[in-house]
Amino acid sequence: MNTDKYAVFGNPIAHSKSPLIHQAFATQTGHVIHYDRQCVPVDKFKQHVDAFFASEGKGLNITVPFKLEAYRYADQLTHRAQQAGAVNTLIANSDGSVTGDNTDGWGLVNDMINLQQWSLTKQRILVLGAGGAVRGVLGPLSEQQPSQIVIANRTVAKAQALAELFGSLCSSSSYVELAGQKFDIVINGTSASLADDLPPLPTALLNDGACCYDMMYANNATVFMQWATKEGAAAVSDGLGMLVSQGAESFRLWRNTLPDIAPVIAQLR
Ligand code: ATR
Repeated sequence: MNTDKYAVFGNPIAHSKSPLIHQAFATQTGHVIHYDRQCVPVDKFKQHVDAFFASEGKGLNITVPFKLEAYRYADQLTHRAQQAGAVNTLIANSDGSVTGDNTDGWGLVNDMINLQQWSLTKQRILVLGAGGAVRGVLGPLSEQQPSQIVIANRTVAKAQALAELFGSLCSSSSYVELAGQKFDIVINGTSASLADDLPPLPTALLNDGACCYDMMYANNATVFMQWATKEGAAAVSDGLGMLVSQGAESFRLWRNTLPDIAPVIAQLR
């Protein structure tokens, strides 16, 4: 029997940890898989995905900049993918069709609740940013029944549009309007960290015991994580646990087994 084939498609992709993560899951669960990374030319996504599934590929992880194209590619979408408006996991079905799912929000919530033991229920959450990354996590965050989710963004119209899409729990804000407000959880979903930048946040935003999460991961504390520590956050995390968790949920969709996530995070640290 041939070894089941999986891959991550993105551009760039050289630094992706997904092959390492999925091989670790396979070893741990006793599954034998082949998992590759492929740098796909930006105008050739459909051709490459077609070719992968035509050669009996079983599943793909999709990363920047293709999550929207993967959403359009899928024959069926899960509820999570519809909410996210984006797909990070493609699954080959036995009838030849391809299902699109999104495990990013599950990954974030799993890391915060199960791995870091933060509570989201009845908490006042501030989400920074209103791009695709944030849209991907608002559904699973809302399901935890926080008291409120405030979406703050430089371009307020984008935050407004997301708040409307996700219903009465969510509202939008500019950064300036945050002054004087307090939050229990602050999640950085902007791409500012990539440029060593920080959204213009007022001081004294954090309640006692507040937890701060950067959806990006880095070897060193990001500017947002440094800000959170300086502001007295009780707990501060980067997004490595989210990355490994979203991978584990993809692995479950493909292999019907949820791997143990914490040891793989420890291995990557
Ligand atoms: P992604 O798919 O990573 O979400 P995106 O859709 O381009 O990427 O969204 C990037 C997000 O980071 C946006 O919310 C963006 O704010 P604007 O919508 O106002 O552009 C935010 N962002 C990027 N750089 C930023 C910075 N230096 N300061 C504040 N916000 C920033």
